[in-house]
Amino acid sequence: DRGRYRHYMLKEIHEQPRAITDTLEGRLLDDHVLEAAFGPKAHDIFSQLARIQIVACGTSYHAGMVAKHWMETLAGLPCDVEVASEFRYRSHVVTPGTLFVTISQSGETADTLAALREAKNLGYAATLAICNAPESSLVRESDLTLMTRAGPEIGVASTKAFTTQLVALLLLTVATGRYHRLDKAGETAVVEALRRLPRSLEAALALEADIERLAEQFVDKNHTLFLGRGPQYPVAKEGALKLKEISYIHAEAYPAGELKHGPLALVDTEMPVVAVAPKDDLVEKLKSNLQEVRARGGVLYVFADAGVNLKSGDGYEVLRVPEVAEVIAPIVYTVPLQLLSYHVAVLKGTDVDQPRNLAKSVTVE
Ligand code: F6R
Repeated sequence: DRGRYRHYMLKEIHEQPRAITDTLEGRLLDDHVLEAAFGPKAHDIFSQLARIQIVACGTSYHAGMVAKHWMETLAGLPCDVEVASEFRYRSHVVTPGTLFVTISQSGETADTLAALREAKNLGYAATLAICNAPESSLVRESDLTLMTRAGPEIGVASTKAFTTQLVALLLLTVATGRYHRLDKAGETAVVEALRRLPRSLEAALALEADIERLAEQFVDKNHTLFLGRGPQYPVAKEGALKLKEISYIHAEAYPAGELKHGPLALVDTEMPVVAVAPKDDLVEKLKSNLQEVRARGGVLYVFADAGVNLKSGDGYEVLRVPEVAEVIAPIVYTVPLQLLSYHVAVLKGTDVDQPRNLAKSVTVE
């Protein structure tokens, strides 16, 4: 039931604070992530790990890309991420103590499932599924599971499944990282940020009226570019995927530092450029990339917090996202990009919940 919402996608975007609260329920104790949340064998497996291999498709793959940053900066665990359709059809060098992690909303995606089955033959130390469907094949066939509790996702474009996957992956980062680089203070900081996350998302959802106005600048465009750096690069990729799948506007995401290696040639007044720019170690670098865009006449739409010294005017439109702990910024900055693609699609009059040529669950190759 869509309730008061015009589309399931909009309802599901607004359900994210609750979906995240549900996903955290029973998995934290004070300032501690409960290892047993991953299953009875979690302790034996996590305490022996040396490496993580993540495999997924589409939006779920983008969640894995964010997790790689968390694993390598917070946990100190080497982490690789690959799309399932590539992983399943190549040779692998498997190093001892590698945990094979799949991420999937449906748990029935053909390529992800085939990759899991292949991983078992390849001799990975153990398998873990992060999934939203408790009865799914992926869950049944994995050693460990962590369910996202997003509830049914009806809109074909994944929204609340993605942000709850990120929450689950942050829990995994902590649960594995404490055997490596993550100390007690680090764990406490992550848990505090997670507990504040539902409220941070409420604040991000409050940008909707501004974003609805912004959407008007995109309806008549044929191409758009999304930029981010570090863990915000996968957020930019997810923003571009959402826009292309429901509004049919061509959208590409680039790590901002790659601009001058090619895509800058495309930039003109007809190609809006969206950037995700929380205040972090990379923001000054990102700002100089934005100036390169501006110098070619590109019009910039920048999502940034109050700590970033950028002003609207002269080809820049700056939207203020609430200031949040750096670790959860990828989750918070996802929300305005979801709202942007939704409102552009509504203005274009597309079938938001059932985009052409796409299926909710891709059970064939
Ligand atoms: C995009 C989208 C798809 C899915 C992908 C994987 O909005 O929904 O890219 O993320 O098909 O699906 P799951 O997560 O069910 O394995």
